[in-house]
Amino acid sequence: MTTRPFNVEAIRCDFPSLDQCVNGQPLVYLDSAATSQKPLTVIKCITDYYSGANANVHRGSHSLTASATQRFESARQTVADFIGASVDGMVWTRGATEALNLIAQSYARQILKEGDEILISEMEHHANIVPWQIVAEQTGAKIVKWPIDPVHCQLDMSVFDSLLNPRTKLVAVAHISNVTGTRNPIEAIIKKAHGLGAIVVVDGAQAIVHERINVKEMDADFYVFSGHKLFAPAGIGALYGKPAMLEAMPPWHGGGKMVENVSFEGTTYTSSPAKFEAGTPNVAGALALAEAITWLNGVDRDGAEKHIASLQAQLVDGIQNIEDLSIIGLQAGASVVAFHIDGVHHSDIATLLDQQGIAIRSGQHCAHPLMDALGISGCVRISIALYNTSDDIKHCITAIQKACDLL
Ligand code: ALA
Repeated sequence: MTTRPFNVEAIRCDFPSLDQCVNGQPLVYLDSAATSQKPLTVIKCITDYYSGANANVHRGSHSLTASATQRFESARQTVADFIGASVDGMVWTRGATEALNLIAQSYARQILKEGDEILISEMEHHANIVPWQIVAEQTGAKIVKWPIDPVHCQLDMSVFDSLLNPRTKLVAVAHISNVTGTRNPIEAIIKKAHGLGAIVVVDGAQAIVHERINVKEMDADFYVFSGHKLFAPAGIGALYGKPAMLEAMPPWHGGGKMVENVSFEGTTYTSSPAKFEAGTPNVAGALALAEAITWLNGVDRDGAEKHIASLQAQLVDGIQNIEDLSIIGLQAGASVVAFHIDGVHHSDIATLLDQQGIAIRSGQHCAHPLMDALGISGCVRISIALYNTSDDIKHCITAIQKACDLL
């Protein structure tokens, strides 16, 4: 069980996977932006579901299915509450990627026409670029890049002002960058976009863990995230859409549960969100995501964010003077630090750290356009979660220094 106020040792007791050796060394897991580790309560939720409560949902009338359906819909309520949404705006998806593809095909494909513009920030994850490129090809709409300021790795609102115009129909932007941890001014972006009649799709995959999200206050048209970065399993995620917009959108996938009546003459669809949830859903994943949120709601989140910020400062302090090492777009207080070392390949650093039991990510981080903007072929990213300790950071700094001496 976790305790208030924030206590990292108590938090760590909830995460059995942290207590293991990798390559003969105690694991130091600093790759939580790729996926978080899972608390016991989430693991137990999945095991319990499959051990004694497994049934399909919204189908049949036996006791197990009734109970699974009730829990599945109650999980939807938990997720909706977590982001300040109503349940009719909360669609289950496999993750942020599927949610973005759903919006592209079910919303954007219907409204875009030749000459319309989709404005996308240059720091986006591929999941918030490629679905828009596909829909642009299908409709004749044009992709417009919102370039970053490569020195600070931030978006400039005056550049936004110069790009936003009446042809802009959709703005796609991350709430927080997965590479640098840059927090984008989402509220200001949404306000300006709405002023010109464009809608805004927010990729909240990184922010959902660190920010308190209220989609209504933010006035986001769509907000998406995955469960697996939020201490839940992979394969479950959420799409928030303004209920009226969802209701007006046609379904994306066809199948069971999203229909009112099917005949060979024609089919009528049920209302949102079920209209977007064809096929048997990931019931265990949905329950586990709700369980992860309940667990997180029991944590002193402000204390956790302060803890993460102090570890980030410790890390920056420890590596910034290493010869030839450049931190990329440092964002004070963020949960990530990205860097590259002149003359050293990022994957070599990752391999050497791995040999010392330290898990970090190297590469392009599914953000090739950002790498191009920064003029680098890739970088190392260290991502910190609430379960990391000052000792984790100390080991990591020593290991980076050691790797640099070797390479
Ligand atoms: N989007 C994940 C990352 O940033 C996978 O590593």
